[in-house]
Amino acid sequence: AFAPRVFSGVQPTGNLHLGNYLGAIRKFVALQESQDCIYCVVDLHSITAQLVHEDLKGQIRSITAAFLAAGIDPKRHIVFNQSRVSGHAELAWIFNCVARIGWMNRMTQFKEKAGKDRENASLGLLAYPSLMAADILLYRATHVPVGDDQKQHLELTRDIAIKFNNDFSGRIAAAGLGTEIAMGDETVNGYFPITEPMIEGPATRVMSLKDGSKKMSKSDPSDLSRINLTDDADQIARKIRKAKTDPDALPSETAGLAGRAEADNLVGIYAALAETRKADVLTEFGGRQFSEFKPALAELAVEKLAPINAEMRRLIDDPGHIDAVLKDGGERAGAIAERTMRDVKEIVGF
Ligand code: ADP
Ligand code: NA
Repeated sequence: AFAPRVFSGVQPTGNLHLGNYLGAIRKFVALQESQDCIYCVVDLHSITAQLVHEDLKGQIRSITAAFLAAGIDPKRHIVFNQSRVSGHAELAWIFNCVARIGWMNRMTQFKEKAGKDRENASLGLLAYPSLMAADILLYRATHVPVGDDQKQHLELTRDIAIKFNNDFSGRIAAAGLGTEIAMGDETVNGYFPITEPMIEGPATRVMSLKDGSKKMSKSDPSDLSRINLTDDADQIARKIRKAKTDPDALPSETAGLAGRAEADNLVGIYAALAETRKADVLTEFGGRQFSEFKPALAELAVEKLAPINAEMRRLIDDPGHIDAVLKDGGERAGAIAERTMRDVKEIVGF
């Protein structure tokens, strides 16, 4: 069996928001207590939708600062940016030849990001999931904490691992590089693990504060739609006060949130920040109006985010330290990646 290993990444594009924090980064921090973790600023991904960026280096540092400020320990685990390790692009090329065009065409993120003018989307945007599979499998990671929007990409990562293992099964065995993988009732021998997504808890899909049908996103033109990790206490309170809601009181049970997307979202955010369940939040706030719930939510959000915000600012003022963390992480990631690429080249037959 494969040794358990966690891998996940965040793109250095735009401001980090509450969805990124609750859906991903906070889980990274929790997992580091019990797991061997690799957390990556996926800068190669950030040029798929937009090629030229104003300050990519600054964005890379800012995401790294958020990782560290949230509590990730770069000494015990690996924190680095993707472009430092050439194995990501190298393995992605091999996976481009494993994956089928039809698999990529089915990806909802590609359809959303490419919009109507698909012919004019970058080839990289189409191949994005193949690079993501490479990010994960370069370290033969077994577990990937992500938000709900990444579920389909993780299924594709599994499909790529399965096809690689099947297509090269003879070579993998001949080279003595096979590892036992439990798949349902069967055990197969393969080189890459079949990665498990970790998508759990009350905030796997944090929605826009202005529209309960859209996810909170870096690319939403309305800044009122999201709480940024860099927002100060006043901005957080103002955005929550202005968040869209309905006129009814909060229900006392989760069933009462059905059909009330905005209410469901705010209760989910509260539950995630308080590290409890929606049902417990409703036990406390059921029957009360949003005029009472919103200030409580704002207070909790400020309490949880202000220390991270302050630490991020402190770290961003010391780019030398951040760059040293990325360099060290890149070297340690690179050593693991090199072993994988040596094996993969032997298996493919180069
Ligand atoms: P974005 O989707 O904001 O552009 P990334 O693609 O870099 O950001 O995603 C980083 C992580 O944050 C991923 O694990 C993604 O699933 C998670 N994530 C992004 N948006 C949300 C959201 N609204 N709710 C929960 N998790 C999210
Ligand atoms: Na995303």
